[in-house]
Amino acid sequence: FPHRVVIQPVIDSTNQYILNHLAELKKGDLCLSEHQTAGRGRRGRQWLSPFAGQLILSFYWTLNARKPLDGLSLVIGMAIADAIKSAGGKEINLKWPNDLLLNGRKLAGILIEIANRQQDQLNLVIGIGINLSLPKLKAQIDQPWAELCEMLPQLDRNELLIRVVKHLYLYLAAFEREGINAVFREKWAETDYYFNKEVNIITEKQTITGINQGIDENGYILIKTKNGELLKFNGGEVSLRKP
Ligand code: ATP
Ligand code: BTN
Repeated sequence: FPHRVVIQPVIDSTNQYILNHLAELKKGDLCLSEHQTAGRGRRGRQWLSPFAGQLILSFYWTLNARKPLDGLSLVIGMAIADAIKSAGGKEINLKWPNDLLLNGRKLAGILIEIANRQQDQLNLVIGIGINLSLPKLKAQIDQPWAELCEMLPQLDRNELLIRVVKHLYLYLAAFEREGINAVFREKWAETDYYFNKEVNIITEKQTITGINQGIDENGYILIKTKNGELLKFNGGEVSLRKP
């Protein structure tokens, strides 16, 4: 369990907090907040974090810089999904590479940022935002979204936090030993909302349509195109959308 838990009622971004305080922190240390004024998603997008409506956490983690990093967001997603399922949740799915969905709508997001590299050690900040109940915000989010209270109205946020952290440490330990192993690949196939479905992969240059065949041992998505070609994409480069 973490050596230190920092609680900041209001903050710009918990990811930024960990980035700014890396020197004082140990692997696994957490920052929690009620409300972020500049919560962020991937590629400069915003993560809206209204007062007391979410579980907002970021933590410091390290990985071997020589090993592939791409599967990490998938492992984090599977840990959160299983934590929610362990509290009685159903209909939780993942959208490659970094979203959790409830009934097909976005419930939670994951943002992994690389702080720096010290020889073979990659220092990372892993940030998670899970919607519990968002009364004040309804109109502002520009894609379909969900809140956990739709499914688990009685769930206590502290209990969810403990379940999430326990699952994270367990799954991260397995990922460090074995990467995206067969157990993770199978779990992914069971949880991936778009598994075996047609999807669009949006790259900087073009949009590719094909059937999502799941992930490989690096966490890359496998897309079978109409002419039978099997293409691989990494999550840093592309976005997945339904056609
Ligand atoms: P990608 O698949 O490329 O990751 P994305 O649309 O999911 O694309 P992200 O950067 O992962 O983009 O997430 C940021 C997006 O999440 C925002 O642009 C907004 O649409 C959505 N969003 C922001 N705040 C919330 C929230 N509290 N709950 C659900 N969705 C949100
Ligand atoms: C996404 O869907 O793109 C990722 C959203 C990640 C949001 C979390 S909330 C805690 C942490 N702090 C941030 O500024 N972002 C992440």
